[in-house]
Amino acid sequence: MSANIESHLNENRVFKPAKDFVKKARVQSLAQYRTMWEESVKRPDKFWGREAAELTWQTKWKKVLDWKLPFAKWFVGGKLNVSENCLDRHLDGVRRNKAAILWEGEPGEKRVLTYAQLHREVCKFANVLKRNRVKKGDRVLIYMPMIPEAAIAMLACARIGATHSVVFGGFSSDSIRDRIADCQASLVVTADGGYRRGSIVPLKKNVDDALKDGASTIRRVIVYRRAGNEVAMVEGRDVWWHSEVEQVDAKCPAVALDSEHPLFILYTSGSTGKPKGILHSTGGYLLQAYATCKYVFDLRDEDVYWCTADVGWVTGHSYLVYGPLACGATSLMYEGAPNWPENDRFWKLIAEYGVTVFYTAPTAIRSFIRWGDEWVTKHDLSSLRLLGSVGEPINPEAWMWYHERIGGGRCPIVDTWWQTETGAIMISPLPGATPTKPGSATLPFFGVDAAVVDDEGREVGVNQGGKLVIRGPWPSMLRTIYGDKTRFRKTYWSEVKGCYFAGDGARRDKDGYFWIVGRIDDVLNVAGHRLGTSEVESALVSHPAVAEAAVVGRPDEIKGQGVVAFVVLKTGATVTPKLRDELRSHVGHVIGPIAKPDEVRITEALPKTRSGKIMRRLLKEIACGKAVTGDTTTLEDLSILAKLSASGE
Ligand code: WTA
Repeated sequence: MSANIESHLNENRVFKPAKDFVKKARVQSLAQYRTMWEESVKRPDKFWGREAAELTWQTKWKKVLDWKLPFAKWFVGGKLNVSENCLDRHLDGVRRNKAAILWEGEPGEKRVLTYAQLHREVCKFANVLKRNRVKKGDRVLIYMPMIPEAAIAMLACARIGATHSVVFGGFSSDSIRDRIADCQASLVVTADGGYRRGSIVPLKKNVDDALKDGASTIRRVIVYRRAGNEVAMVEGRDVWWHSEVEQVDAKCPAVALDSEHPLFILYTSGSTGKPKGILHSTGGYLLQAYATCKYVFDLRDEDVYWCTADVGWVTGHSYLVYGPLACGATSLMYEGAPNWPENDRFWKLIAEYGVTVFYTAPTAIRSFIRWGDEWVTKHDLSSLRLLGSVGEPINPEAWMWYHERIGGGRCPIVDTWWQTETGAIMISPLPGATPTKPGSATLPFFGVDAAVVDDEGREVGVNQGGKLVIRGPWPSMLRTIYGDKTRFRKTYWSEVKGCYFAGDGARRDKDGYFWIVGRIDDVLNVAGHRLGTSEVESALVSHPAVAEAAVVGRPDEIKGQGVVAFVVLKTGATVTPKLRDELRSHVGHVIGPIAKPDEVRITEALPKTRSGKIMRRLLKEIACGKAVTGDTTTLEDLSILAKLSASGE
């Protein structure tokens, strides 16, 4: 049993939603949740058909679900447009002039875009894309700071049926190049730069570097002027956003798209190889993003909702852009760091905008705890009514702090478990119905048949650890890995027969509540960001001095996990004091700063079995500073252990 399970087993506090919260909630009791859940799993056609009827369809579907494991089609024959559902359908009523996006830049500028204004900007940019020869089905790469234009570019793609692939602004030029090559994008939307902790991230320059070998499929780069930093514009390839929008009108019909039309590709790390292009659909994806916003965040017209995720991650896609806009909500979008100019920027924003629903990550919460309560107590957070957490397991201590200090003891917390692949929330409390327990994501969302199973696929007993699987399809599930159906089947649908499994371990308690342990494959979760150990390893071996590398995670108080790299140098390479730093920067350069190892340990050899397999378990124990336990008899060279333990000094 893992340490994580043990530390949670003693957690028995239960928090019931307050009566006045329940009274206003959409789902008001556990019994009501259970009835709805039963129907959603047994009669998905009925349940999801009813939910889908709340969206706008240009042609109604003929069949709710067509399931041939592992390929699902949802709302077969239906046609709709995501941007129409997020924008146009709100324009006939009172939401027309309601704020869709409240934006604040890191330096402090403010902008408000109403639904009517956002609609106008999206139509104009959709026309810009068309003017630049983007057609339905083409791939558009978006590499933007956290500004409204990131959402505008995404929605403009959706409007004309182009498939977007957003790349997080913290990724390197090599990462951009790999993604372009994989999805064969024809156009990039970027900005000159974006602000982060007071400095400017040179986005356009990173794009230039990604394209410099000239072999790219990119024909056009559209550049938004955000930071005013100097950029080089390549004649015939690069154009300015502002001059392009001057050339087009503000009318652009929303194209009717098949429900299964690919809305976006988002790259994410797995346990092997390069990041995989996770492909999401139109109808099913939008429906679950919408339905989870409605039931999990219980969004209301009067809410000011704030999801702190970057648009470059799936949380930004589903809970900053598509979900809240489909609900007609008002969202706050903030460009920069939580500790800029000081540690209370988030609390200042909540007080100033009257944020009511706040959704953030445990790693951020743990940083807030470390910064001290005085940053929080300075501000009036009484507008908050609901809190959310996502991205990694939340430890009970962080949960309690969030509950008491941020939520004033009155706000329910929804700890939402899901993944890039699942597209939308899969396991979470419903705030008016589910009693919460600190550290548990509680119960599955509607339509989600989750279970904890052993290696043979049998459900394990109460409080037994196992693999977290989903039995059967759900609307927002990934449709495939872009360009690789075989890998899709193998990665997600082969490990446990008939089930989706994507790397997490969990247990269920006597009430059926899920407690997520975290990844049990070779994927790390560093500050809520997914990183494949193999990705970091191949970045390391691409350095001329490195012969071999093995990367493991170790617990980190703030980031959840830290990255430790064991590196074997090539013969002749000399260990200089600077080499460790150089290797760290090299990984930052190849993948992005988030992947930089916290520690690089140079060693003579890696622990291998006689058949040549790296014994990661040993490395993990050494990385944590623990004594090596368990069987080491298969180790090829026992003297290696002592050398490895010494490699940290
Ligand atoms: C982890 C982010 C525990 C998990 C939406 C998953 C969580 C990975 C939770 C997906 C949670 C996400 N409790 N663990 N509430 N939410 N995870 O693809 O290990 O960036 O597999 O999607 O984050 O990360 P991804």
